[in-house]
Amino acid sequence: MIERDFFTVYGAPPETVVRAPGRVNLIGEHTDYNDGFVLPAAIDRSIDFAGRKRADRLVRVHSLDFDAAVEFSLDDIQKDSNNRWGNYIRGVSKYLEEDGHRLSGADLIFGGNVPREAGLSSSAAVEVGTAVFWRNLLRLELDPVYLVKLARKAENQFVGVPCGIMDQFISALGRQDHALFLDCRNLSYRHVPLRDDVKVVVCNSGVKRALAQSEYEVRLNQCRQAVAQIASTVRPVKSLRDVTPADLEAARPALSEVLFRRARHVVTENQRVLEAVRVLESGDVERFGELMDASHESLRDDYQVSSKELDVLVELAWKQPGVLGARMTGAGFGGCTVNLVRQEAAEAFAEAVRRGYQDALGLKAEIYICEASEGALGA
Ligand code: GLA
Repeated sequence: MIERDFFTVYGAPPETVVRAPGRVNLIGEHTDYNDGFVLPAAIDRSIDFAGRKRADRLVRVHSLDFDAAVEFSLDDIQKDSNNRWGNYIRGVSKYLEEDGHRLSGADLIFGGNVPREAGLSSSAAVEVGTAVFWRNLLRLELDPVYLVKLARKAENQFVGVPCGIMDQFISALGRQDHALFLDCRNLSYRHVPLRDDVKVVVCNSGVKRALAQSEYEVRLNQCRQAVAQIASTVRPVKSLRDVTPADLEAARPALSEVLFRRARHVVTENQRVLEAVRVLESGDVERFGELMDASHESLRDDYQVSSKELDVLVELAWKQPGVLGARMTGAGFGGCTVNLVRQEAAEAFAEAVRRGYQDALGLKAEIYICEASEGALGA
């Protein structure tokens, strides 16, 4: 328990406790930074925070997972290249202060069970958890979407990772037993109930996302180039969100094969998300599963962000009884797959995939049968 850990480290009880979940994206991959649609859910694995105010401007941070501590002054928040885990907290604190929210010093601890570098957004959970921690501790009036944007800014500008807005959004605003349908252009959203007779099963390939950051930036730039070329040859689109399949065909002669495929993934993925939301709302989980499968193929063949391990996990999943759909999830190049499985088949599914992965590649997959959970602002 985080309260007890706080007491052990600081010898006093905490004033505030926060729970910020990781996430799994059901469908809508590499669409958020193209102004598109996503459908993630917060999972029942979280990064927890506990803390109390200090009378000065010092922030002392203890990481349970790294078993290490750092401290910084709110008057001079710099990046720390030795303890990079602390930078998410520093970044969020810095931008809150810059926006005129006067913070006080604090003693805090954090830690949890979202695996790191597994594509389940442990870093977004730390950012969102930090922002909600300050909000609760100091009773700051922070609009939820402002808080999400600030958490993302810490990742983009302070930590220096060019992610979209999906991960921070869902960690803050997820809802128990629901997925969240988000329009990443205008940030309007609604929660979509998940049926309780199907389970979201996450298979962690155990392979760290080695290429993830560099290839992510390559994809981001390819999307921008595709937009520029479509805009100059077909019609004035602002992002791939605006591109229809007909536009894409019209632009095909002007685009290189690679740019065409990248754009085709995003255009078709946005369509899949819209249909996925419709069929989920009407209870058609079979069709939802087919859309997940198609998403995987598109990410593998057109966007080219899958990996051998992820493909093995997905192909194993497709063979199991009770599976409705399976795909890689998150940025790719390692990390996890997400599977929709009939409830009664979920345990056997987990066992069969674990065994099959070990037999095929000699690797251990960790498998989590997830519950969609409340975001940090709701808990
Ligand atoms: C990472 C990023 C998200 C999103 C996904 C791909 O998780 O942090 O913003 O772009 O990759 O869908």
